[in-house]
Formats: sequence, C-alpha cells, structure tokens
Amino acid sequence: SAETLQDGFDDTISREQRVEPRDWMPDGYRKSLIRQIAQHAHSEIIGMQPEGNWLTRAPSLRRKAILMAKVQDEAGHGLYLYSAAETLGADRADLTVKLIEGKQKYSSIFNYPTLTYADVGTIGWLVDGAAICNQVPLCRSSFGPYARAMIRVCKEESFHQRQGYELLATMMRGTEEQRAMVQESVNRWWWPALMMFGPPDDESPNTEQSMKWGIKRHTNDELRQRFVDMSIPQAKALGVTFPDPDLKWNEERKSHDFGEPDWSEFMQVIKGNGASNVERIANRRAAHDGGAWVREAATAFAARNAAS
Ligand code: ACO
Repeated sequence: SAETLQDGFDDTISREQRVEPRDWMPDGYRKSLIRQIAQHAHSEIIGMQPEGNWLTRAPSLRRKAILMAKVQDEAGHGLYLYSAAETLGADRADLTVKLIEGKQKYSSIFNYPTLTYADVGTIGWLVDGAAICNQVPLCRSSFGPYARAMIRVCKEESFHQRQGYELLATMMRGTEEQRAMVQESVNRWWWPALMMFGPPDDESPNTEQSMKWGIKRHTNDELRQRFVDMSIPQAKALGVTFPDPDLKWNEERKSHDFGEPDWSEFMQVIKGNGASNVERIANRRAAHDGGAWVREAATAFAARNAAS
C-alpha cells in the first residue's frame, strides 16, 4: 500500500541509507532531485564558456593544456550529472531544451564575464573552491547515483582549485602589474562566489525539505560561512585581500563575520539579467543547433544497426 511504501522510504532516510533509482520515492523527492541535479548539470556545461574564452589566449602551451583539460572535465561532469538525472526518469534532450528556453536555472556565477587572464586563476581558486565546499557534503546525499557522482566530481574539482591557486601564486611572484591584475580579479569575483551558495536561509524555499530528505546536508548560510573561513588564510598566503570592510575574526563564534552580498544583484542574475546571461544561452543554443546533424546521424546509425 501507499503507506507501507512511504514508511519504507522514510525508514531508508532515517537510517541514512541510500535511495536507489528502482526504489519507491515520493513525487516531491523525485522532482526536487531532478530540479537540483539538472541545474547542477547545466552549470557544469554553461561553466565551460567563461574559461573557454581564454583557451586561444593562454600565455603558454603548458597553461593552455591545463585549461583545456579543465574545461573538458567540466563537460564530463555535466554529462555524468545528466545521466544521474536520467536514472530519475528525466529525459536529457528535454533538459537541454528547458535550459536553452530559460525554463531551468544554472549557477549565477557563470553569468559574469572573464575580463582578464587572472580570472582563469580566480575561477579555479574561488569558484571551484566554493563548488567543492558545496559539493563535498553532497557525496553523502541520500540519492545514490547523485552521491556517487559527487565523489569523482569533487576529486576533479580539487585539481581545478589547486591549478587556479597555483596560477595566481605564480602571477603574484611576477610584476607589479600582474599582482594588480590578480587583486582586481579577486575584487570582482569575491561577492559573486559568495552568492553561489544560494539565498540566505530565511529566503531559501527549498532548504528545509531538502535537508529532511537528506538531499542537502547543510544550509546555504552554513556553507557560505565555511567557505569564508577557509578562504581567508588562503588569501593571506597569496597576498590578496577581499573587498569587504566588515570581514573580521569573531572570537566568540570562532568564525569570521562578513558583509551582506547584494541580494538584489543575485535576483537579477538568476532572472536572466546578469552581464552574460544572453551570451551564455545564445552560445549553448548555437552549439545545440550546430550538433543537430551529429545527433541525427547517430540515431540513423543506431537504427540501421538495430535493423541488421
Ligand atoms: N544560481 C542560480 N540559482 C540559484 C542559486 C545560484 N547560485 N542558488 C539558488 N538558486 C535558485 C534555486 O535553484 C532555487 O530555484 P528553483 O526553486 O526555481 O529551482 C531558488 O534559487 C531558491 O534557492 P534555494 O531554495 O536555496 O535552492 P536549493 O535548496 O536548491 O539550494 C543550491 C541551491 C545550494 C545551489 C543547491 O541547489 C545545490 O547545492 N546544488 C548543487 C550544486 C550546484 O548546482 N552547483 C553548481 C555550481 S558549481 C559548478 O558547477 C562549478
């Protein structure tokens, strides 16, 4: 009966066991997971663009090879996550259409332009750093395929974060101009990186239910605080500062106090009005249209093989 199915599911969640694709699950659980995993997958795919922008202008063959590997990893993460969404009954082609029609979201962070080469380093250090901070707890998410995908994704993200930090450290050992370029880049990315964790807890409609279901393990504000605390010693070691006059150690809380991100900017960006939203979606749409003949050929090939 429906009751026993619900009891079985509740029992799995309360015992911290994994829900697997063939298990019964409430509709809301399935929908929320598809929503979060699709948004996550879209972010990985759209996230190739800001850094891809610097592939043809990387300053050396070594930097170009590293950046190319990194951007390819992001594509891999996107495909892996679309597969996880498919285990819930979502259709990959349908998800892509929803992305390019603006019906599903992707991370706010990828709607900011990459203006200098230092941005490649800052994205690795801060953006991938924030992504890891958010995703390591998702390795314990209650849905098996998502949790398992996060293990590999986090390992690769750690490499991305280290390469970003190393790039910035190299620039900081360079000329005065290079150091200024790093600081300017960090100034632009700091607040948008804090916004990646989502709205404040009291304005986050999904957190409470997602925590009960074990889809999320920490609230948006908890992870934002963790990210601030872990980034400050790294900034000191690099020799850069964050553009927040309210940033200071709070001895009582054993944590850093920090200022409020501009939430009206965040709302604008997720509504589609950020600096690069239109360009990102136009590029994704062009790539999708440009690949139509490949999908058609693959389908025809599969059909012919099945017939013979
Ligand atoms: N960018 C765009 N949209 C966001 C962002 C953001 N940074 N943060 C929250 N939102 C959206 C939510 O998707 C939700 O919209 P929806 O209800 O229409 O789907 C709405 O804002 C309200 O937010 P919450 O209730 O807090 O949503 P949720 O509980 O899903 O928390 C979070 C948001 C923290 C991003 C969560 O979905 C998550 O952990 N996702 C997995 C990680 C991820 O997607 N990372 C992608 C960026 S990192 C990278 O790819 C390198």
